[in-house]
Amino acid sequence: MGPLQIKELLQQTPDGQSVTLKGWVRTKRESKNAIFIALNDGSTIHNIQAVAAPGQFSAELLLTVTTGSCLKITGQLVESQGSGQAVEVKIEDIHVYGAADPDAYPLQPKRHSLEFLREIAHLRPRTNTFSAILRIRHTLAFAVHKYYNDRGFFYLHTPIITASDAEGAGEMFRVTTLDLEKLPRTDEGAINFKEDFFGREANLTVSGQLEGELGAMALSKIYTFGPTFRAENSNTTRHLAEFWMIEPEMAFFELEDNMDLAEDFIKYVIGYALENCKDDLAFLENRLAEEDKNKPQNERSIPLLEKLNFVVENAFERLTYTEAIDILLKSKPHKEKKFQFPVGWGIDLSSEHERYLVEKHFKKPVILTNYPREIKSFYMKLDDDGKTVRAMDVLFPGIGEIIGGSQREDNYEKLLERVHEVGIDPETIWWYLETRKFGTAPHSGFGLGFERLVLFVTGMSNIRDVIPFPRYPKSAEF
Ligand code: 4AD
Ligand code: MG
Repeated sequence: MGPLQIKELLQQTPDGQSVTLKGWVRTKRESKNAIFIALNDGSTIHNIQAVAAPGQFSAELLLTVTTGSCLKITGQLVESQGSGQAVEVKIEDIHVYGAADPDAYPLQPKRHSLEFLREIAHLRPRTNTFSAILRIRHTLAFAVHKYYNDRGFFYLHTPIITASDAEGAGEMFRVTTLDLEKLPRTDEGAINFKEDFFGREANLTVSGQLEGELGAMALSKIYTFGPTFRAENSNTTRHLAEFWMIEPEMAFFELEDNMDLAEDFIKYVIGYALENCKDDLAFLENRLAEEDKNKPQNERSIPLLEKLNFVVENAFERLTYTEAIDILLKSKPHKEKKFQFPVGWGIDLSSEHERYLVEKHFKKPVILTNYPREIKSFYMKLDDDGKTVRAMDVLFPGIGEIIGGSQREDNYEKLLERVHEVGIDPETIWWYLETRKFGTAPHSGFGLGFERLVLFVTGMSNIRDVIPFPRYPKSAEF
């Protein structure tokens, strides 16, 4: 089916067999004795080199063979004369599918800034960096499904449009078909959502968890892997308005089981990428090393593969929120008033605190548990002391929070009390509450932010560069 991809051709033994190449020109180089075309079709980071003799093709044709143009080349696969590649193609014929006017085509064979590439997101997958990221992203997504499928979890498709706010943070995008110029009103003058498409207010989901729990109460082990949407106005390198989340939910799992799963899962998918994305990771590692050359020694990052292997091979540090606060209170930056935000029991840890714990104190991934109830979601199981909940956040170096999860409150009365406490109308989630009335069970789950994982694995520094078409405040162009 279809032509052989460049990845496959590069692995063939060259003995003059005829081959067809289809792809985009990365570079064209002309010397006295030959014309060299480096072609790439996205199947691999490596280009294939095609060689023609001077005068073999008209100057007119060669003018349309420029960086970015799309070609079909037929020729013979031969051992390469030059160094740098094992095989090359001796060109017999060139067909230009589409030229790319060199005066207008924005991608030239030189280093472009990531900021500039974000402005041409429709073309950036054609760069080495982005094609490597996209292949790694694919491999990680595949590994997620493989991990759960191999362990008896079922992939549950939870809704994208919902009427509930699972996280209770009120950061939702509204979904409506009402005419904003002529809003229907009730007698009291409020907007009459009864006339809206769903007969009620609706929004894009911030998490599939609540429906995921319904699935776990029947199938025991489920996971979701879908897009989630948050209208938080945070212009950071760690937040997107549209991101993908993986949310496993397991009946009969307590917090400790939940932590074990989270750690095993994240190590598995990173290990899978290490095993299956060697060329792309090596390319990105080099890219980072190049960038680091301009930095002072103490600001240089650990080589990418070393960092990934370290995470796979070492146990994550586990401690409670209360223990973490003690460490922060005793820390140098706290004593020297170097933290921007105050430290004390009850605070919501800010990223400077998380990064201190992970990057300075423990120097490895950390799982924090048992947070104060006031700063966590209503559905988390209350600890016996009544002050903390069975929450867990996994914190990663350079990333901060990569996973958020908990054991769930399975006691109907306690859950209802929390629902009232945080001001949710129980009527809007009556179906969720009913699971605690009919055959309730201890259960747990968590959410892994997929882009934060891709960020970590690729070593990139801005989350906008690890999703093909990022959505963030004032940006939804492509
Ligand atoms: O901690 P969060 O808000 O947890 C939940 O949504 C739970 N319902 C998960 C569960 O228990 N089933 O989000 C989970 C993860 C975060 O740890 C982070 O990695 C990622 O989602 N995340 C974001 N990623 C990119 N952009 C954003 N705006 C994100 N907000 C959260
Ligand atoms: Mg969280």
